[in-house]
Amino acid sequence: MTSLSVGVNLDRGYQMNNQHDFDWVFDHDYCGRILKGHYSKQLKARIAQLINIFQNFNTSANPSIPYISAWQENDNTGVWYEFAGQRLLALFNCNSCEVAEIFRDSIKKRCAYSYMPDSEKICMKIMESDELATVRDELRYEVKQNGTVEAVYQLALQNERSIWLKDQASIETYPDDHICLSLGALIDVTKEMKKEEQRQEEEKLLRKKQNELENKLEKQSKELWKAQLDMIYRLAEASRLRDRHIGLHITKMSHYCDILSRAIGLDTENRELLFHATAMHDVGKIGISETILQKPGKLSSKEFEIMKTHSIIGAKLLSGNNMPLLKMAKKIALTHHERWDGKGYPYGLESQEIPLFGRIAAICDVYDALTSERPYKHAWNSDDAFHEVENGKGNQFDPSLVDLFLSQKSEIVKIQDTFPVNPEIRFS
Ligand SMILES: [Fe+2]
Ligand SMILES: [Fe+2]
Repeated sequence: MTSLSVGVNLDRGYQMNNQHDFDWVFDHDYCGRILKGHYSKQLKARIAQLINIFQNFNTSANPSIPYISAWQENDNTGVWYEFAGQRLLALFNCNSCEVAEIFRDSIKKRCAYSYMPDSEKICMKIMESDELATVRDELRYEVKQNGTVEAVYQLALQNERSIWLKDQASIETYPDDHICLSLGALIDVTKEMKKEEQRQEEEKLLRKKQNELENKLEKQSKELWKAQLDMIYRLAEASRLRDRHIGLHITKMSHYCDILSRAIGLDTENRELLFHATAMHDVGKIGISETILQKPGKLSSKEFEIMKTHSIIGAKLLSGNNMPLLKMAKKIALTHHERWDGKGYPYGLESQEIPLFGRIAAICDVYDALTSERPYKHAWNSDDAFHEVENGKGNQFDPSLVDLFLSQKSEIVKIQDTFPVNPEIRFS
């Protein structure tokens, strides 16, 4: 006998007896447990009433599939159906006694939708069948607490077909009988879910393409950065060949500039640019004659005028390019001999007119020149060199940068001590 006739007979039996005697269900294919079991008359009456209502719904033209499922809270026998709509039985090609087990074993995925507590967003929680098997008790507890069920199941049908059913149910609890009932309707949402899957697939593909593009761009910008570094260090090498004193000077200066820029609080990106750009500050010396560069004694005033042109020559060499590293290198090459009081060269800029990176380089350049051996002088000790930098505060150098520079004495001396031993140290 089909569930249709069970429903009709149950209704008739309930009305006929009106004594809550449901023994007659043994004559039918009712596969629930409550009407046959030792449960309260109140619960049995409710089940009979619900089956009658759901049966009427089942035979209507409404496309949703009604069901009544139940579970016993004090044992672990799982969920069973008190009533399953005819279309559900047809989908699984089974009878109402088999449907609970077949439904459970057919689940491929369960998606539950919920609103995020503090936002308008909807959260979709997807569980695969393996995971679902381990959390069935928790899910039952959760839906009992919520009083409702709203989930979408992907189910495997015969012939490798699959279907998506949306489950909407309300929960009734019968504490005396330790029974929970789920009164629900299943709606076929396969079309909608397939569209959603397609949308997700397209989104995934788009994300993949975007990632590939970003990786490509990152790779290209790394290559561009490497090319810039390669170019400036080749130029630095050229100036090193002209003036043998430059080599260690620019390496140490880069580190002093890094220490000072860190003390200022400069961001990492600009610190790295400054570290490399500083290496170019004396690149204009390529254009100065060797006689002047290698002169063992002090330069005459005419020679000094020629020497001063190295800042403009350097800026010209580095101009005409928009890359941030070369733009910064040009600024430093042009302004590292400007003075805070306006008495520097080539333009006599004063105070804030001098770019920050030029002001930083000016202090570090002088400090390293003082503490290095030159053909015309011995290396000063660090105390004397720091003292000289302090003397330049507010006239030769930016006063606030001098204070910061002097606050980093130990770091600076550490670099100074490191280099003669390991001149190849690099920025980190
Ligand atoms: Fe210079
Ligand atoms: Fe220099």
